[in-house]
Order: sequence, then structure tokens, then C-alpha cells
Amino acid sequence: MKKSTLLFTTALPSLTDLGEELLLIYDEILPRKSTAFKKWSQKFSLKYGVKAGESLKSVDHFPQHIRKIVQLCENTSSRRLTVVVVGGGSVGDFGGFVASVLKRGVKLVHMPSTWLSAIDSAHGGKTALNVGGAKNQIGTFYPADKVILSRQLLMSQPEARAFEGFGELLKISWIQGGTLWQELSKEFEVTSAVLWKYLARAIDAKYKVVGKDPEEKSGHRHILNLGHTVGHVLESYYQLPHGVAINYGLDFALRYSVQLKIMSSKEYEKISHAPVSGYLLSPLRDDLLQTKASVLKEFRQLLLSDKKKTKSQTLRFVFLKKPGQCVVKEVTVDEVLMEICRQKEDELNG
Ligand SMILES: NC(=O)c1ccc[n+]([C@@H]2O[C@H](COP(=O)([O-])OP(=O)(O)OC[C@H]3O[C@@H](n4cnc5c(N)ncnc54)[C@H](O)[C@@H]3O)[C@@H](O)[C@H]2O)c1
Repeated sequence: MKKSTLLFTTALPSLTDLGEELLLIYDEILPRKSTAFKKWSQKFSLKYGVKAGESLKSVDHFPQHIRKIVQLCENTSSRRLTVVVVGGGSVGDFGGFVASVLKRGVKLVHMPSTWLSAIDSAHGGKTALNVGGAKNQIGTFYPADKVILSRQLLMSQPEARAFEGFGELLKISWIQGGTLWQELSKEFEVTSAVLWKYLARAIDAKYKVVGKDPEEKSGHRHILNLGHTVGHVLESYYQLPHGVAINYGLDFALRYSVQLKIMSSKEYEKISHAPVSGYLLSPLRDDLLQTKASVLKEFRQLLLSDKKKTKSQTLRFVFLKKPGQCVVKEVTVDEVLMEICRQKEDELNG
């Protein structure tokens, strides 16, 4: 799989650096959040604004979108057209999919506007649409030709959003281990400045994993799902922002790793006492994990619809032995549900 060219910029790039004929697909919130983006976007003659979120990724809405996009691009050449996608992960998943099928595939530039997309989703080439309530059921592998990380665009997010991107930074630093985790573990704050500081190294760590298994054939890439199995359940059930749900999912995965003695309690203490982990290991977890039969039934359905499901009732769950060492192990859906109940009990008993 081709590797995207990464460009780190302070401001927004010049249009001539993006391609010849350009179609801008952008999150329609951005002109309201950034006057620089508003001015910049006005320079595009072909543009398509979308409302970010899971509904954008719904396969049911795709025909309406693609009809309008095809109409917009009717006078463009497939060889010269570049789709420039500006937004968070949902816009990236949608826009990447559009670029991969429009005129049988055109050039693609991603400009992530959320921390989550800058650290994670804009890299690695996965595009996705949702089918029914189940996330990411169809998609393509379609790496962007360029990924442009604009400090100005990323800093247009409210500071509070840093928390949402932070789980993805922690996740990749736990997967990579080494100096990335050692240095990050000493940070005291979760701020945009800290995220920007670690951005290039976090992206590099993701490419190291993706490079070994670009199209998820050997199974190595699966470790990027650390925190995502239960994270996706909480995201769908509580309609939480993806980043927030993943933070809880990471916490769950660590505790589950200790319960199965994959991670030692000493290692867990070390991780959880790092200043930076304090932001992640949240007491709110108690409200999210549920033991009510009706809720567990829905959690079961969501776990079963997860794409990481292997045989009928088993999932490939990503555990952490220690930073730098993930362990992928098959567990049954019942075992995950039992662990949810156990962690809830644990919490209630202090
Ligand atoms: N393809 C992949 O490899 C991959 C990996 C991880 C996650 N994802 C997907 O990414 C999505 C989640 O990503 P996300 O949280 O970035 O989602 P998102 O695109 O839904 O953005 C979240 C919110 O932030 C707003 N927003 C975007 N940029 C902003 C800015 N600069 N200032 C203020 N608000 C802004 C959006 O309008 C939206 O309300 C999920 O759909 C998930 O499945 C994909």
C-alpha cells in the first residue's frame, strides 16, 4: 500500500499545492469555527459541505450524496481531479470512500480538523460507511496521496476537545512503548499544545503498525483496535463522541488485561500512576458499565455486530501486557459481558 506524503504546516496550504482540479468536501461546521478556513474554502470552485457524524457515514444516505457529487464533478477529468477532504474522522471516512469510487478512484488529500483524525483516522487508508446501527461495515483501503496537518486548522477546535484526541495518543503510545510512552507519561496536562508536540511521532508509530499489515491480512494491524471493542459499544449505546468512548474502552482493556493476568498489577500501577493517565482513567466509568439484563442484551448485540467478531460468539480482543507489547486473544462475548459486570462490582466496592 502506498504511504501518504505528510505535510505539517502552520497555516492552510495554497490551492496549487493540492492538485489541478479540486473538489473540496468539508465539514460545514468549519467556516463557523475558523474565519481563515472560511476565506480559504471560498477559493474552491467545486465544494460540498456535509454535516459530520455517524449519519453522514450511513449507507442509506450515500446515494443522495453521491448523486450531487457526481453532478458537481461532471466537467472534471478523472485523471486531474483531486478530492480534498477537510474534517474529522466521519468526514474523512466518508470523503475517502467517495474518492475511492468516484470515477473509479481519484486523487485524495486529507486535512484532518480534529485531533482524533489528525492522530489516527486520516492515516492508514481505511474508509468506511455504516450499515444499520453497525459501524464501518463497508469500505475500501484507499490511502490519501497527501495528509496535510495544519496547526491553524487543528487549533480552531475548542480546547476541551483535546481530551477526545488524547485517548488515541495514549493508545498509540502504549502500542509503541519505548520513548514515546516514557516521555508522554511524564506530561501533566492534556492540551492542544501537547497533542501538537507529539503528533508527528504518534503518526509515525501508527505507520509502523500499518506498514507491517497494510490491508489487515496478517492480523498485526488488529492491535490498533486496543480499547475499541468495548469503546464502540459505549459509543453506540450512549451516543458518545468516538474519542470519549475510546478513552473508556482503553481503561476497560487495561483492567481486563490485569484480570486475565496478561498485565501484572505492578505494571498497571505504573501506568495508572503516570500523571497523564489520570485524565483517562475516569470515575465516570461506573455510570457507563451496566449490569441490568436489558442493557447487557443490547451490549451483546453491539459486540456481535462488531467487525472484529471471529467465530459466531467470539471476538479478537486486544490486551496490553506492557507498553510496547499487545496480546490479541479470542474471548467469547459472554466473557466480555462478565468482565463488564466484574468491573462494575469492583467499582461499587471501591
Ligand atoms: N478510518 C479510520 O481508520 C478511523 C479510525 C478511527 C476512527 N474513525 C472514525 O472517525 C470518526 C470519529 O472521528 P471524529 O471524532 O474526528 O469525528 P467527527 O468527524 O464526527 O467530528 C466530531 C465533531 O467535531 C466537529 N469538528 C470537526 N472539526 C472541528 C473543528 N476544527 N472545530 C470544532 N469542531 C470540529 C464535527 O463537526 C463533529 O461535530 C468515527 O466515525 C470513527 O469510526 C476512523
